[in-house]
Amino acid sequence: MAKEYVEIKYQGKTYKLPVIVGTEGEKAFDISNLRQNTGLITMDPGYANTGSCCSAITYMDGENGILKYRGIPIEQLAKYSSFKETAYLLINGVLPTRKELNHFSVLLNDQSLVHEDMQKFFQNFPRASHPMGILSSMVNALRSFYPELQTLEEEINITVTRLLSKIRTLAAMSYKISRGHKVIYPRPDLSYCANFLNMMFDNVVRPYHIDKDVVQALNIFWILHADHEQNCSTSAVRMVGSGRVNLYAAISAGIAALWGPLHGGANQAVIEMLSEIAESDNNVKTIIKKAKAKNDPYRLMGFGHRVYKTYDPRAKIMKKMCDKVLAKFNTNDRLLDIAKELEEAALNDDYFIEHNLYPNIDFYSGIVLRAIGIPTNMFTVMFAIGRLPGWIAQWQESMNEPNWRLQRPRQIFTGPPEKKYIPIDKR
Ligand code: CMC
Repeated sequence: MAKEYVEIKYQGKTYKLPVIVGTEGEKAFDISNLRQNTGLITMDPGYANTGSCCSAITYMDGENGILKYRGIPIEQLAKYSSFKETAYLLINGVLPTRKELNHFSVLLNDQSLVHEDMQKFFQNFPRASHPMGILSSMVNALRSFYPELQTLEEEINITVTRLLSKIRTLAAMSYKISRGHKVIYPRPDLSYCANFLNMMFDNVVRPYHIDKDVVQALNIFWILHADHEQNCSTSAVRMVGSGRVNLYAAISAGIAALWGPLHGGANQAVIEMLSEIAESDNNVKTIIKKAKAKNDPYRLMGFGHRVYKTYDPRAKIMKKMCDKVLAKFNTNDRLLDIAKELEEAALNDDYFIEHNLYPNIDFYSGIVLRAIGIPTNMFTVMFAIGRLPGWIAQWQESMNEPNWRLQRPRQIFTGPPEKKYIPIDKR
């Protein structure tokens, strides 16, 4: 029984809508019987006021800059956890015991190879293809290479570890093939992150030296990206999954959604923006002016967020990591200097203050990725690998939802009313 109700009045009648309260006190009123009772639907373009589900995975407080996975603050996970352990936490709901984590590692290791025939697919993509398009296609293709298993439980367990493990093999493979280099296979003696770095950068003439600080930076990068509740790509995974497609197809849809520059593609767009400033006559002032201009669609990439109306808590950690990684390699990155100048100018500008526009995670993540040698067109792929545990957890939760329904929003039709069909020779 609800404790509070919202009343709406329409055509002389009053309707009581129950208020649902989350564990952190956030509230929604339930309109699931609204159309049935009143004939009305709600209108909320961009869904900024619409809850699509109840979820026990991630808590975000955009006003106070709080992010927690399964109750644990992101700052603690970034400090003490590994990406593998965080993935386990998101998917299973609790931190693993040592035994459970070891078993998870064995499963990931067992699933790390990809079918040799998949390499032929890669060879045939045009060289200029964007790695996100390739990744989305290859993840979808996994279903053809690894058909359905006998039991649902086996299907879920194996498919989940298969995806988590193979995505990094596929990503590294696409990079190697795009460079015309020999593919490097996964190694059972390496951790999740070290294995990926080795597959990306090892080669026969220059063996890759695995640096523990770089491995740690990658762990933190992926932990920070691991889930972000009902964002664009996660909602795509839930929406596509609601049609009961297989997990590979749902994740492939999530990867495609993440590709956009307003979402995951922003990390690449930030570096392109900073490089443009470095290489052109445009200075920080000109760029800020352009981003503020009412009739110019230009936006400051890496700034603003639908939910955060304060500094993105992930961006704070990323900024610190950025300084640490660059200090470690003694790198002088001109783009970092421009980023700091741009951040300071925007944070002190009335337009950005009034619009609550703060740096988001993508503002500094590209500089970290550059410092550890990841090529710019692979940045969003790095985001996708990190977001995978979140997508899987959200998909799993939606599949187990007792009130599960096919996701199918409505619309208000604004096209022409009924018209007569005119034969082609009379038009
Ligand atoms: N630069 C300049 N103005 C901006 C920006 C920006 N980056 N972001 C929002 N605004 C302005 C916008 O012009 C509008 O102004 P007005 O009300 O005067 O017309 C106002 O702020 C509200 O914008 P909105 O588009 O309604 O806000 P939204 O919540 O729909 O957009 C966003 C969120 C992330 C798409 C947007 O802030 C943006 O385009 N940012 C740049 C791209 C980016 O960095 N994306 C990464 C997001 S974090 C990674 C992830 O989780 O996906």
